[in-house]
Amino acid sequence: MRFPKAFLWGAATAAYQIEGSPLADGAGASIWHRFSHTPGTILNGDTGDVACDHYHRWQEDIEWMRRLGLNAYRFSVAWARVLPTGRGVVNQKGLDFYKRLVDGLLRAGITPMITLYHWDLPAELQDLGGWANRDCAKWFADYACLMFRALGDRVPLWATLNEPWVVMALGYLWGQHAPGMRDIGAAAKAGHHMLLAHGKAVQAFRAESIPNAQIGIVTNLGPQQPASDSPQDQMVATLWHNFINRYFLDPIFHGEYPDTIINFIGEFAPKVAPDDMRIIQTPIDFLGVNYYTRNVLAYDASDPIGSRTVHQEGKLYTEMGWEVYPEGLYEILKWVQAEYGDIPIYITENGAAFPDTPNAQGEVDDPLRVEYLKAHLEQAHRALHDGVPLKGYFYWSLMDNFEWAFGYSKRFGLLYVNFETQQRLMKSSGHWYAEFIAKQRS
Ligand code: FCB
Repeated sequence: MRFPKAFLWGAATAAYQIEGSPLADGAGASIWHRFSHTPGTILNGDTGDVACDHYHRWQEDIEWMRRLGLNAYRFSVAWARVLPTGRGVVNQKGLDFYKRLVDGLLRAGITPMITLYHWDLPAELQDLGGWANRDCAKWFADYACLMFRALGDRVPLWATLNEPWVVMALGYLWGQHAPGMRDIGAAAKAGHHMLLAHGKAVQAFRAESIPNAQIGIVTNLGPQQPASDSPQDQMVATLWHNFINRYFLDPIFHGEYPDTIINFIGEFAPKVAPDDMRIIQTPIDFLGVNYYTRNVLAYDASDPIGSRTVHQEGKLYTEMGWEVYPEGLYEILKWVQAEYGDIPIYITENGAAFPDTPNAQGEVDDPLRVEYLKAHLEQAHRALHDGVPLKGYFYWSLMDNFEWAFGYSKRFGLLYVNFETQQRLMKSSGHWYAEFIAKQRS
């Protein structure tokens, strides 16, 4: 397996999942801070108050990245650190944290990729309706512009939103994520306004004409396959495929929502103003693909959505209950290329949670994660070999962290984190990845 010399080898994280000290130095509360402090929302009552204490340990964490041999790191900016109420007055101390982090990464020879929105909306903006309020698109673009001006000279890769589908579905439709809403109308609005926010931010980026910097969006994608060739199973698989894979990408690349979904949601379908699709379609430089698993779907009349996922006998499942299906990475990358053309792609997330525990020698042996990593890199390589313009791979995650509604119970890291002592340990998978990268870069 030989990847191109310029390939980026990274790991990814997100602000609320690792930083801790969410209100430090004048930061405003985010919806995740508020949500995790609402009883009954997060497994074991966990919060991001301390998380990996990365806010104080960022230098040590850059050292770990160096030991892993990473030449890239994807992280997100907490909007409410920089703009405590989401708009208006800038909190210089919050901005300085990210400036120091970026400078530290550059000194270590690590290319930063910034995600502007990884789910932690400033709480004050939620009080105005959050993403369901159309003005949120403008608030986001203003915040994005502030970040481009502050760090555009040093950060070559920018992603507007992380997984808008998850925000829409889990945040506004099913309620397991902040802001915890269950409202199909609000969900459709939130989805549309996130698209608009993305488009406006890309326009602001272009207006700044930042040399040598690129912008894209990060979406969660994966094959949605029928459990049998019965017409009902095929129908639900097509519906899920349109919902998960096309809902955000069709507007961005084709300027329209997929019909199947629009018909399915009927009266709740988003209201598209005349100029919206033109803004949403503003060309991007790359697409970020987060890939974890596939869904095998069967028709099920007793389910509100009319479908259920079918367990695959003999297949390995992660702690998240996600099937390990490496071929799906190849399949989805090929699909993106066939459907949307030769857009450069970064795999911005790919990883697995397994029950890791340090042994008496203080080592964490995680052979299943090594296998996962290897098998997915093979599929990435296969896609590259078959002509997909793949530019980099970011493992999720650099270190064990706050896994949203599951709190600290799911460990995805290359680094094991002892949440009592904040000690980090490199798992076998970290050692394996380090060796793999070293060979690629030699
Ligand atoms: C993705 C999220 C990321 C992490 C992984 C496991 O959906 O983008 O923050 O939680 O799943």
